Amino acid sequence: MQTSPARVLLHPDFTVGTVDRRLFGSFVEHLGRAVYTGIHEPGHPTADGHGFRRDVADLTRELGVTTVRYPGGNFVSNYRWEDAVGPVEQRKPFLDLAWRTVEPNVVGTDEFLQWAEREGIQPMMAVNLGTRGVEEAVALLEYCNGEAGTRWADLRIANGREKPYDVKLWCLGNEMDGPWQVGRKDAHEYGKLARNAGRAMKQVDPSIELVACGSSSMEMPTFGEWERTVLEYTYDLVDHISMHAYYHEVDGDRASFLGSGTAMDRFIERVAASADAVGAQSRSDKRITISFDEWNVWYQSRFPGEDNLPIQKDAPRIIEDVYSGLDAVVVGDLLVTLLNHADRVPVACLAQLVNVIAPIMTEPGGEAWRQPTFHPFATTARLAQGDALDLRVSAPTITTKAHGEVPAVTAAATLADGAVALFLTNRSAEPVEVEVAHLGAALEIAEGWSMTADHEPAVVGPEHAEKVTAEHWGEFDVAGRVAGDAGASSTTVTLPPESWTALSGTLTSPK
Ligand code: AHR
Repeated sequence: MQTSPARVLLHPDFTVGTVDRRLFGSFVEHLGRAVYTGIHEPGHPTADGHGFRRDVADLTRELGVTTVRYPGGNFVSNYRWEDAVGPVEQRKPFLDLAWRTVEPNVVGTDEFLQWAEREGIQPMMAVNLGTRGVEEAVALLEYCNGEAGTRWADLRIANGREKPYDVKLWCLGNEMDGPWQVGRKDAHEYGKLARNAGRAMKQVDPSIELVACGSSSMEMPTFGEWERTVLEYTYDLVDHISMHAYYHEVDGDRASFLGSGTAMDRFIERVAASADAVGAQSRSDKRITISFDEWNVWYQSRFPGEDNLPIQKDAPRIIEDVYSGLDAVVVGDLLVTLLNHADRVPVACLAQLVNVIAPIMTEPGGEAWRQPTFHPFATTARLAQGDALDLRVSAPTITTKAHGEVPAVTAAATLADGAVALFLTNRSAEPVEVEVAHLGAALEIAEGWSMTADHEPAVVGPEHAEKVTAEHWGEFDVAGRVAGDAGASSTTVTLPPESWTALSGTLTSPK
């Protein structure tokens, strides 16, 4: 049986906005094995001269990650960055209260920023507004971006790094509304602190972009009120408000899980509306954009909670979720949502990069491999270039328990100098025919890739990830599933059930 057809209407002149390359960011936190035995493992056979794993760095490049957020996450809220700079043998371990793990302070600001620089990644740093404040934030910024002649810049130089790192993106704390956060604040406390820290930081370096903490999720009881209050204190100062969202399948409710992109869509629209309301009230022409600096599939129901973690050391295995083809379809669909908000969401971070709810996994001393979620991210990062097109999509709906009615088909498209990429999700359990109407422009699909959902529980290890990839990921059968010649005004694409597809080709307007 086939679900009734869906229709996607596109035109090269109708655009949402330019896709900011920072939309394809990720996140490395001092949590579990993200840093130690993740990006960094001096004894590993592929380790470079700095102790960083070459195999992980190569996969990071293949993933297409442009920006990496560091050092947390919850971790940042009790971090003393000064304890992790200078000679490594003089650094002392500390007990990180966020993840109840002994942090050896072997990798710190310099090691991370130099790794990012070597790998062509733009860093996104977070300052501790949990246990610390304005002074520490300014000191760290001066350490990273200052010219010789001041205390903290000179310390960086004494530690072997002459040239400033010129870090542009700065998060004013992390999830400060969360009861789990070390040094949690209410919206007024945080708003004032973020304003004071942000103002001082812009005095050190006016070229930086600042991110104020939004709510930790749309489910937080203070959601909306938090955004309003925080932005009332910081509107003129900050550039972005943060959003965090993790999705997973609850009690086998596959339809709701496949509809997660609709929940993300509504979340973005609500945060944008909250920000605009503050702007309108103060008659400001400025538009606050969104840094969606944590998003992913995370089976939080399997996580015992921060407070129930035992105190551990030596990079313990914490939240190492293993992903399925179904999870990968959802990740692809969440990227569709992000692309459709290209005008409002310039920065986004798939949380996280390695081992911790990550597309890349490693074994200490052993292999590094791609989880199924790696493929839709890497393919979108590679193909989504130029402008996001403003599509009109009509599709049958699916009734879900968690989100009500959601469209069975979602779509996003990008266009750069005639090169088009089309991203399509079929959330329904049946194949669906999508009519892509291109209004007089000529569309030619050259190739495609597709991920289909599986029904098997995910199993730890490279063999399972490779099996899922072999069975559910691969080239899209363009010859068999795409109909319509270049001169036609519409093209039909038949999508497999529960699938995410990326198509690439050309789109040219008639002369
Ligand atoms: O990404 C894992 C954790 O999720 C981060 O530390 C925190 O910010 C969020 O709650």
